[in-house]
Amino acid sequence: MPMKVLVATEKPFAAVAVDGIRKVVEAAGYELELLEKYTSKDQLIDAVSTADALIVRSDKIDNAVFDAAPRLKVVVRAGAGYDNIDLESATAHGVCVENTPGQNSNAVAELVFGMAVMAARNMYDGTSGTELKDKSIGIHAFGQVGRNVARIAQGFGMNVSALDPYCPDEVMTGAGVQPCHDIKSLYSGNTYVSLHIPATPETRASVGYDLVTLMPHKGILINTARKEVIDEPGLCRALEERPDLKYVADIRPDCADDMLARFPGRVFFTPKKMGAQTAEANINAGIAAARQSVAFLRDGIDRFRVNRK
Ligand code: 3PG
Repeated sequence: MPMKVLVATEKPFAAVAVDGIRKVVEAAGYELELLEKYTSKDQLIDAVSTADALIVRSDKIDNAVFDAAPRLKVVVRAGAGYDNIDLESATAHGVCVENTPGQNSNAVAELVFGMAVMAARNMYDGTSGTELKDKSIGIHAFGQVGRNVARIAQGFGMNVSALDPYCPDEVMTGAGVQPCHDIKSLYSGNTYVSLHIPATPETRASVGYDLVTLMPHKGILINTARKEVIDEPGLCRALEERPDLKYVADIRPDCADDMLARFPGRVFFTPKKMGAQTAEANINAGIAAARQSVAFLRDGIDRFRVNRK
């Protein structure tokens, strides 16, 4: 019986990306199974029971999924953030977890500017807005997405600075970006702040009232990272006290309806996380995930492993 690679995506890849994944998997002599737009966890639990490899996006892969997957050897998250996968459980079940860093980062970075221009033009309500040129943007975490944000911001003629304790200053200066070493300065010194921190226990609810109220007049906070990094009550309090501020996000906050009602014209949320939802990003991340799955199953290569063995 050939080994099986299951692609389980509640939010599907573009069809062209699925074709590419299929080619890679079948060329290696493996079978591809697709579970798209599934609506219940039982469907996922059922499908993983015969899978040797699993490719997912933001799909939640918890202990129950690992328990139901006796043949599973590798999970590849086709994307950057792997906060949706229980790494401890994966290790306990002897499963390797990988991500595909950088493969969808330009798509996310482009959406930052889609939302930045929209906010600067007052959500396209017909009134006179502002331009991005000569404004300052602070990039909160200078990973793959942050670096693409910097490149595009420079094209708009913005002044760019970034904060990232894990990134050497030389990497930032080499990209024409001013390193910032103090989080308060990042927020107080930039009209635009773009979030690119992962959701971890340390970052959870770390951006709230104290930071947001430091932003200059008419500040715009852009979140294409994770909703979990925002302290929602604190953000709402900041927006209440500072009617000049705006918040635009690719991840609907838990209190989205309340925010939309309370701050009309000042907040915007995409209906579903769609930063990485382009054909190009789907092809890049999906095919990388397929190649990594095959490389692990065939040769044990785990270059992008993110969990302990
Ligand atoms: C990521 O972490 O790669 C992005 O948030 C994209 O997530 P998605 O694949 O669920 O769109």
